[in-house]
Amino acid sequence: MAGFDPGKKRFFTLLVAISVTVFIVNIILVSGTDVKSKIRKIPIPIPGKQNGQQTPSDPNLPKLPSWYHDNEVFEEHASVNDQHPILDLMRDADEAFRIYDESRSKTFRETVAKYRRKYGRHPPPGFRDWYKMARDKNVYNVDDFDQIMDDLRPFWGIDPFEIRNLAGHMSSEEHGGVSGLHIRNKKVWRLTNQNWRVEIMAKMVQPFVKYLPDMDIAMNRLDQPRVVVPWDDMQKLLESERATRHVAPDAAAEWTTNMEGLLKDNDTAPVVIDPEWFSKHGQQYMLIAKEGCPPDSHARDPNSNLSSSEALYKHPQGGFVSNFNRSSDLCTVGPEVQGKHGFLFAPSTIIASKRLLPIFGECKVNVNNDILFPANMYYADDVRYRYDSKYDYDWDDKNDTMIWRGVTSGGTNTAENWRDMHRQRLVLTSNGTEMVGKEVLIMTEDPNNQGSYVNFKHYQPSEFALDHTDVGFTEAFACVPDCGFYDGVWTYKNMTTLSQQFESKFVVDVDGHSFSGRWHAFLESKSLGIKSTIFREWHDSRLFAWRHFIPMDNRYDDLYSILTYFIGIGKRAKASDQPYMPRHDFEGRKLGRQGREWAKKVLRKEDIEIYMFRLLIEYARVIDDNRDMIGYSGDGSELDRYDSKHPLSPSNSGHA
Ligand SMILES: *[C@@H]1O[C@H](CO)[C@@H](O)[C@H](O)[C@H]1NC(C)=O
Ligand SMILES: *[C@@H]1O[C@H](CO)[C@@H](O)[C@H](O)[C@H]1NC(C)=O
Ligand SMILES: *[C@@H]1O[C@H](CO)[C@@H](O)[C@H](O)[C@H]1NC(C)=O
Ligand SMILES: *[C@@H]1O[C@H](CO)[C@@H](O)[C@H](O)[C@H]1NC(C)=O
Ligand SMILES: *[C@@H]1O[C@H](CO)[C@@H](O)[C@H](O)[C@H]1NC(C)=O
Ligand SMILES: *[C@@H]1O[C@H](CO)[C@@H](O)[C@H](O)[C@H]1NC(C)=O
Repeated sequence: MAGFDPGKKRFFTLLVAISVTVFIVNIILVSGTDVKSKIRKIPIPIPGKQNGQQTPSDPNLPKLPSWYHDNEVFEEHASVNDQHPILDLMRDADEAFRIYDESRSKTFRETVAKYRRKYGRHPPPGFRDWYKMARDKNVYNVDDFDQIMDDLRPFWGIDPFEIRNLAGHMSSEEHGGVSGLHIRNKKVWRLTNQNWRVEIMAKMVQPFVKYLPDMDIAMNRLDQPRVVVPWDDMQKLLESERATRHVAPDAAAEWTTNMEGLLKDNDTAPVVIDPEWFSKHGQQYMLIAKEGCPPDSHARDPNSNLSSSEALYKHPQGGFVSNFNRSSDLCTVGPEVQGKHGFLFAPSTIIASKRLLPIFGECKVNVNNDILFPANMYYADDVRYRYDSKYDYDWDDKNDTMIWRGVTSGGTNTAENWRDMHRQRLVLTSNGTEMVGKEVLIMTEDPNNQGSYVNFKHYQPSEFALDHTDVGFTEAFACVPDCGFYDGVWTYKNMTTLSQQFESKFVVDVDGHSFSGRWHAFLESKSLGIKSTIFREWHDSRLFAWRHFIPMDNRYDDLYSILTYFIGIGKRAKASDQPYMPRHDFEGRKLGRQGREWAKKVLRKEDIEIYMFRLLIEYARVIDDNRDMIGYSGDGSELDRYDSKHPLSPSNSGHA
């Protein structure tokens, strides 16, 4: 570190003096007991901290020295040789991230070569314009778009005319739950079945619509996803995609014009192909979803059980989620969560199809074949969901609590089913009164082996919940016949802004009717996001569980093992039937900071635009009659000069 000024030096000396005093006092008075817990109680004078509150934007307050947070002496570290399983999970995440980071293409040449290697095709026409815009906007990783390829692959198995015809006309049926965005002559020509979602989508395409060929986009306007193609049909579609892969030396970098099937002015025969919608409101979604799972998967295996499912995604100690992707994969966890998530057993609206339809959606479960695009809410600048720094204090000034606020959405609430719905379960599980006499699994330090931890199966979390959770509904909603059955059940809490929630260190995010629009703001904050979901979104591959956020099981059985790890409980003792978990505040702060720094790099509006741009040129190719013959066939050298003047943004894999 450069420039260690005298002020900092005095401060450092003071800290050292306190540490020595504490140490001596401990030696004399309390030798043999927990030194760290004593240190915690000594108030350390921190410049800029008054009454525990610090407004980050107040310019009059002196800044904390930057090394303060990382100073070993004053951190409430667990023992140096801490072997908590969360440390392994964090290390694994860092390693996965390092590989992700180091594999980034640095030039256009590398990007196109990698594209051909990975996908067996040329990049689509327009790829050069896309690449330049991505680099101009400082996109961190120009290779990370596998989700788009996965979503579009099956469409190579059906006739481009069929896709165009469906995309052009599904939105003309008013009750089909589909809106349309129609691009002609490099402009947004028309919106059909208009609503706020498609209006925002129209804004999202503005920065690059001039590069796009004519196309129709059918957008899901319901909360719930739409398409589940049965497994065997899907394998055939994917096989056709594999069979058509090739890299033609003479590919034309041009789109085909004047193709049939697009929506026309005053179309007289709108729907040529039937989307085959069917309604299943309120019915078990796994009955539909299961058909999309592999035959040998947990969800379709009659001999599977809870432990065989857990073995696929959970750490045996503490119940921590070790594979976030799998923890939300209904083929892996479906049978275990089907009675615990409102979307799965009480969906308010399901209009679905087993036919592969070109439907753009903001989220889906893993077996859906909707084409993901970045949710409109993330682009909308809505005050209810936008990050606002007002109460986003520095970590040390935040409360040791986990907060959640929301309404009772997530499905149709009835007097019989509400206890099993996902939001309701979160509010019940975090309620200290409700948890009186109940037991959960957490971890405790092994009394004979400091730094190592074992499961503790009979923890009564009631008191901990009263002290450290602030979770509740602000309003009842979506009840049949009405919400009267909630009288006396909940204590409704006052609404808070998102920013007020950042007074808490831990912000938990669970699904509503579908995905949660708060997630980007949570990640952007200095608080640490805890995430549980069954939905997939456009950003999944760029967010690393245990590096940028804490994953939580959809059953919430790991909630207290997570919170007690970060907040700490009990006292260290030689032998005890009471659990002891040292506080891991350093780790919490670090993950919160990593999530925040990363969100500011990869969840920007620019990142949303670039995802959408890439999606639409890939989509334009699969709906093109000459899709096998078009593409960018150059070697990428034409941008050599450009690349040498635009070096890649610096790596983010260190521990800042
Ligand atoms: C479509 O119908 C409108 C209103 O009837 C008419 O003004 C317009 O000219 C028609 N467009 C075409 C291309 O036929
Ligand atoms: C669960 O399934 C696994 C694998 O099929 C089996 O080994 C195990 O004994 C089963 N456990 C129970 C409790 O049935
Ligand atoms: C955080 O703690 C402070 C001080 O105890 C209190 O005034 C404030 O209301 C708390 N905030 C929340 C969100 O609980
Ligand atoms: C917590 O549970 C108690 C007992 O069931 C209930 O009275 C109270 O309203 C609940 N609190 C909240 C925030 O819903
Ligand atoms: C909730 O809001 C009401 C009305 O604004 C206010 O009187 C009350 O004090 C608030 N309660 C809490 C706990 O902040
Ligand atoms: C999740 O797992 C599936 C199946 O293994 C894989 O295709 C997909 O890329 C994974 N997604 C992420 C975000 O890692």
